[in-house]
Amino acid sequence: MDRALAAFLDELARFGEENDARETERARRMLNITPDTGRLLWILVQAARATRILEVGTSDAYSTIWLADAARATGGHVITLERNPDKVTLARANLARAGLADRVEIREGNAAEILAGLPGPFHFVFLDADRASYATYLDLALPKLVPGGLLVADNVISHAEELKDYLARVKSNAALFSVTVPIGKGEEVSLKLR
Ligand SMILES: C[S@@+](CC[C@H](N)C(=O)[O-])C[C@H]1O[C@@H](n2cnc3c(N)ncnc32)[C@H](O)[C@@H]1O
Repeated sequence: MDRALAAFLDELARFGEENDARETERARRMLNITPDTGRLLWILVQAARATRILEVGTSDAYSTIWLADAARATGGHVITLERNPDKVTLARANLARAGLADRVEIREGNAAEILAGLPGPFHFVFLDADRASYATYLDLALPKLVPGGLLVADNVISHAEELKDYLARVKSNAALFSVTVPIGKGEEVSLKLR
């Protein structure tokens, strides 16, 4: 990764941590993935040669920048979904600063509604929004994921109880091969087999 971009990602990670330690209102927290999780996403996108990438939950685009930089290497692009207009504004500014605005399309609104209308196919889907809707996102995204595509969900260790249903479903689905990776807040990585 380009040194200037790595430095910008470090800056955003620090901003997110300091902001979230200060803010009591959840909507104003950044709730970013950890830097290790960013590295994992970057490696997975490139290893899978994913070009059509979907992210559910943009926030200030910290994770989006990791995905979009990997997409630059694969010749791909990212569609990312976010309902909070202030975060969309922040995400646009951060993507512009990262030089990655042309790799990313931000769709503002309710993720389930937008996802239902997205044509697909996708090679890589990253879930990092309202955990109560992960099972809905699974239903909506799985038919749009290509065989050989990857589905990654954040927070499966930090919020294992809340994501019990999602985890049971991906681990028991015969079309998926799934593993919990103990990086960051816990990533469930599911490969679509067929
Ligand atoms: C955990 S944060 C995303 C963090 C981001 N992936 C990162 O690592 O930088 C979750 C985001 O999802 C958004 N969100 C939550 N529920 C949503 C929904 N139903 N539709 C769209 N966005 C939603 C929140 O506004 C928040 O910005």
